[in-house]
Amino acid sequence: MDGALLAPEETRAEALGRVAALLERSGVEEPRRDARALLLAAGELTPADLLLEPSALLSPEARRRLDRFARRRAAREPVSRILGARGFWTQDLVVAPDVLDPRADTETLVALALDLIGARRGEALTILDLGVGSGAIVCALLSELPLARAVAVDLSPSACAAASTNFARCGLDSRAMILRGRWAEALDARFDLVVSNPPYVASGEIATLAPEVTLHDPALALDGGVDGLARYREIIDDLPRLMAPRSFAVLEAGAGQAPTIAALLVAAGLEIAEIRKDFSGCERAIGARRRD
Ligand SMILES: C[S@@+](CC[C@H](N)C(=O)[O-])C[C@H]1O[C@@H](n2cnc3c(N)ncnc32)[C@H](O)[C@@H]1O
Repeated sequence: MDGALLAPEETRAEALGRVAALLERSGVEEPRRDARALLLAAGELTPADLLLEPSALLSPEARRRLDRFARRRAAREPVSRILGARGFWTQDLVVAPDVLDPRADTETLVALALDLIGARRGEALTILDLGVGSGAIVCALLSELPLARAVAVDLSPSACAAASTNFARCGLDSRAMILRGRWAEALDARFDLVVSNPPYVASGEIATLAPEVTLHDPALALDGGVDGLARYREIIDDLPRLMAPRSFAVLEAGAGQAPTIAALLVAAGLEIAEIRKDFSGCERAIGARRRD
């Protein structure tokens, strides 16, 4: 065991410095930010507790918890998985093993979808999410669209279970139905909004990603085939038969993929409504409409 984890008695500030140093040595990208998150959770502290009383001693139980958390983070498990929760849009979602840890980038898709829906927000809209994962997108959309209902599809039983937990946790389970299956194979309905954040990493690139991803996110949620675009082709082929009049489809894109995905959407007979960048300037979400 790393000697840095064996401090006998220490203050909040000392614990923060010790864990941040351990995480830095382990190659964690933002060691102090993560050390702080783990310390707050382990000590059941608020940010103000840490700021106003940095010299208070951590209880033995809090130190034990912090050391367990720190060991897992040093082995490159993401903070969200260690704590079992992740903030997405305005909700706190459960992050389950074998299910993609939702990313802040995906909030770009949510924001674009809501903007495209615009004045129809108060209508009883129908939403389809292909590859629901933890349920992040559906939870965000249903929380903003009070009369909308969603069908959420995933091939992974773990994802279906996690989405079910999160729909109930957010009080949205009466408006969301989960279907386990292959994309829209079992569906013959039309929807006002179709959303998807499909797997988009080229198969050969998966092994080159950070350990937080390769060791903890399931391959089914990452693998986009040889060129990273195979899942888009599968999904886009089906979009015209799934989209109601005046509807939109909004897809998340990996870095550099947006122009090709837009071309696939146009080839399927749809019209590009908007391509939106995320906060790092990457074209992240593509909105398309039917040509009615
Ligand atoms: C990138 S994850 C997105 C999860 C979630 N929507 C999010 O944004 O956090 C892609 C999801 O697609 C699911 N998936 C992969 N292939 C699928 C298929 N053929 N049919 C249905 N779902 C599939 C995976 O299990 C995974 O949950």
